[in-house]
Amino acid sequence: MKTLLTCCLLLISINSYAEAFKNADAVSGKALVDKNCISCHAQSFGGDGSSIYTREYRKIKTSKGLLAQVRNCNTMIGLKFFEDEELNVASYLNKTYYKFTE
Ligand code: HEC
Repeated sequence: MKTLLTCCLLLISINSYAEAFKNADAVSGKALVDKNCISCHAQSFGGDGSSIYTREYRKIKTSKGLLAQVRNCNTMIGLKFFEDEELNVASYLNKTYYKFTE
């Protein structure tokens, strides 16, 4: 039983991309992004706006930078996300687009 548990934990930690977001909830992060972030990005970048994250000269290069950018946008538009919400958003963006592993 103990071995099984260790195995599961190991698998979970391998699957989660960046260590920084390991306790974050990417699903609720997606809901926040859908609601607050997409329309503006879509206006500047077209489509669903997601090409802002995948463009060749994207600004974000690390998971730390990603979290910092989420904080910046959050502050800029006055959303007042809580710390854990910022982590959830960054985790979702990382899992879906950036795929940083540390
Ligand atoms: C009012 C418009 C607007 C809103 C709302 C907005 N953003 Fe942005 N965001 C931008 C613009 C413009 C850029 C590009 C900045 C640049 O290229 O210098 C950007 C860039 C980014 C990037 C970096 C993309 C890259 O280059 O890798 C991330 C990440 C990001 N936004 C996340 C968010 C998140 C998360 C939210 C919602 C909480 C959000 N943004 C809401 C305008 C917005």
